[in-house]
Amino acid sequence: MTVAIVPIELRHVEGLNECVAELARERRFLSIVEGFTLDQCAAWVAADRVRANPFLVALDQDRVVGWCEVRRDILPGRAHTGLLGMGLRAPYRGRGLGRQLIEQALRAARERGFERIELLVRSPNARAIRLYSQVGFQEEGRKRDAVRLDDGSEDEVLMALHLREKN
Ligand SMILES: CC(C)(COP(=O)(O)OP(=O)(O)OC[C@H]1O[C@@H](n2cnc3c(N)ncnc32)[C@H](O)[C@@H]1OP(=O)(O)O)[C@@H](O)C(=O)NCCC(=O)NCCS
Repeated sequence: MTVAIVPIELRHVEGLNECVAELARERRFLSIVEGFTLDQCAAWVAADRVRANPFLVALDQDRVVGWCEVRRDILPGRAHTGLLGMGLRAPYRGRGLGRQLIEQALRAARERGFERIELLVRSPNARAIRLYSQVGFQEEGRKRDAVRLDDGSEDEVLMALHLREKN
């Protein structure tokens, strides 16, 4: 399986939307349970492109199988911060692709002057937490009873990576 990681282009919007919707329907990883409309997804991607936010997609042939985005905070006092989000379709997990995606996105974020990258991850998501820890994220807090889907209640873990402190 050869997967390419490239900066997102507008022609990837439909594939990204399908990929996000597939993960949403799994209900275990994100806080949404269905996808966005195509217009919403196009607006999301367009806004990131205008702001030069790192936004990578993983492509198998031309099919979007994953993404990693770092969205700069729009509030002036938080403009050094980016919020990271990522996901892979199920057959592409557990083979190191997530690590490649996040490392490339963090490299792009560093080049673009981000100094703090933060994310929220649902606490049972051990694989994601392990990956984030491996690339240097540390837990900074915990939102208790943050996600309620189906029968359960889950905490969300706030993790952050301070890029300037690493070098
Ligand atoms: C989280 C995600 C991006 C990680 O990417 P990935 O390619 O599957 O992860 P990797 O193969 O790079 O593995 C990351 C690490 O987690 C470990 N791992 C794998 N499964 C695990 C599990 N069930 N529990 C704990 N660690 C696990 C791997 O062994 C690896 O560590 P290692 O390098 O020491 O072996 C991907 O699994 C995914 O998209 N999951 C669903 C969506 C999601 O959770 N998004 C994040 C929301 S915050």
